[in-house]
Amino acid sequence: MSQLIGKVAFITGAGSGIGRGIALRLAREGADICIPDIDQDGARMTADLVTQLGRQALVLKANVASHMQIQTAARDCVNRFGRLDIAVANAGIGRSGSVLDMSPKDWQDQIDVNLTGVFLTVQAAAQQMARLGNGGRIVCISSLAALNTSGTMWAYSATKVGVAMMVRGWAQDLGPHRITVNAIGPGVIETPLAAGLAGEPLGAIRSSLETRTPVGRVGQPDDIAGLVNFMAGPDGAFMSGSYVVMDGGLRDSRGSWEPDPKAVEEQQRLFGRAAERQMKMQPLLDDRG
Ligand SMILES: NC(=O)c1ccc[n+]([C@@H]2O[C@H](COP(=O)([O-])OP(=O)(O)OC[C@H]3O[C@@H](n4cnc5c(N)ncnc54)[C@H](O)[C@@H]3O)[C@@H](O)[C@H]2O)c1
Repeated sequence: MSQLIGKVAFITGAGSGIGRGIALRLAREGADICIPDIDQDGARMTADLVTQLGRQALVLKANVASHMQIQTAARDCVNRFGRLDIAVANAGIGRSGSVLDMSPKDWQDQIDVNLTGVFLTVQAAAQQMARLGNGGRIVCISSLAALNTSGTMWAYSATKVGVAMMVRGWAQDLGPHRITVNAIGPGVIETPLAAGLAGEPLGAIRSSLETRTPVGRVGQPDDIAGLVNFMAGPDGAFMSGSYVVMDGGLRDSRGSWEPDPKAVEEQQRLFGRAAERQMKMQPLLDDRG
């Protein structure tokens, strides 16, 4: 567990969920971690955990939807550590709803964070990597939703298809700089973002998901972190332009990966909680200055 000693990783949205899992895994492998996030409390909590693992962490206030903020964050990371070896474009949000009434603001936020934000993150990190001349590894977090969608998830899916395709172009583009670029398509992973899909332990949604998932459980951030570690380490050197699904086999299981319609009460409660979180986060998301 030391394949990344001396490396520096820049992980957007590492203040929660999958990003935090990736930060802790790469720290355990020896990397120091830069944490650009709009949620400074979450980012500080991740930084504390990284420090407890004996690595250094730098919390950066940055909105991936802002060119200026993410450029500054990548520069600050290099100024602090003198290098930037691994970048993970992980920050993302979910805006769901019917095409009949999704607001243009929700659509634009979805595109700004999940699509433009990935472009701006990869651009800022790749510019630093190319300038430093040490090569690099870039991983973008797409989704199983790049392959499957629903009547409410189509906007989210549109961004994730875009990410899966962009990495193929960037792999071509950045190969001469010895930078690899890959995407991961997680299935349902237990994080605050996916609370409505993952359900609660022992609840009806979770039980239905476990039944439909061939490996028989919901995904954890650590599952995705292991694949990022592969892509960022020596074993991943020959992988570039790939989109790898990690979903416990859910993609090909019978039925949709939406919650069981029988669990309506639980679903409404969890979506209510998600809506509250979204309202709390919205002012941070709207700060692009
Ligand atoms: N959880 C799942 O089931 C699942 C499945 C497939 C893909 N994904 C993708 O994985 C990524 C991480 O999701 P998660 O489930 O860990 O979500 P999460 O909500 O737990 O964490 C997202 C993190 O990103 C940060 N963030 C949001 N918008 C930001 C912005 N504009 N600038 C900077 N930081 C921002 C949040 O503050 C938070 O710390 C997302 O891209 C998501 O689409 C998640």
